[in-house]
Amino acid sequence: MTYKDLDIRENNGIVTLTISREKALNALNTPTMLELRHFFTEDAAGRSDLKGVVLTGAGEKAFVAGADIKEFLGLDAESGQALAQRGQDVFFAIERFHRPVVAAVNGFALGGGCELAMACHLRVASEKARFGQPEVNLGIIPGYGGTQRLIQYIGKTKAVELLLTGDMLSAADALRLGLVNYVVEPGAEVEKAVELIEKIAAKGPIAVAKVIDAVNAYFQYDLDGFAREVANFGQTTATEDFREGASAFIEKRTANFQGR
Ligand code: CAA
Repeated sequence: MTYKDLDIRENNGIVTLTISREKALNALNTPTMLELRHFFTEDAAGRSDLKGVVLTGAGEKAFVAGADIKEFLGLDAESGQALAQRGQDVFFAIERFHRPVVAAVNGFALGGGCELAMACHLRVASEKARFGQPEVNLGIIPGYGGTQRLIQYIGKTKAVELLLTGDMLSAADALRLGLVNYVVEPGAEVEKAVELIEKIAAKGPIAVAKVIDAVNAYFQYDLDGFAREVANFGQTTATEDFREGASAFIEKRTANFQGR
């Protein structure tokens, strides 16, 4: 696929994926969503040489200011539902990606933008970042997982307030409430995200994928997360990586994992 709305750069096994519709504050329209889907489910799916993905937005103002409101006017109940389902499927593909995906939130993360950041495994925010689910201002509700993931991250009390008022959170408040992992100076968010991915890349890659899978199971109501942890633990004990990790510990050296 030729990407138009995503700027994709790879350096030393880390992809920096920049949503590049700066004039529309990187709002997610259909082509952008299809490109995101293609990247995570086709191009990068299963790539064992990849250390991780940093997701950010072009320009200094916005990470992503939401789903593209201009596309919404022609929607009816059926097409609206289909659009939300597609959005959720794309964001699930990110949440279930086998390598860490870190949102580098450089500005507004509103509506679908906040939902996109929440679908990532970790979030680094610039001091200028603002988070919110302002859909009620438009007379709609979040459709890409916002009513569910916001509660998962910050708890029901504050999540319901934000969902009902459409108010925005500052980066400092997002950190205090547990919505983001780190707040950094403006311009340093991608670097911090890369640092996190590099740190994780030194660990056993199968173990990393199995942690992501087991954590996701906690939030999937048809799965028993504890049972999934038992199964994943068993699978990791059978890997060459585990033999290497345990041997390295005993021999007091750094492990050299091969992802096998
Ligand atoms: N969709 C489409 N275009 C958008 C957009 C969006 N979500 N957000 C911003 N833009 C466009 C504006 O229309 C404007 O374009 P023009 O120059 O062509 O008029 C351009 O980006 C710059 O925006 P503003 O002039 O509004 O910039 P500002 O600095 O005055 O305000 C802002 C910034 C507070 C982020 C404001 O743009 C805003 O409130 N945006 C909408 C946020 C929103 O409601 N997001 C939720 C969308 S619905 C959703 O996401 C549903 C879902 O869960 C799936």
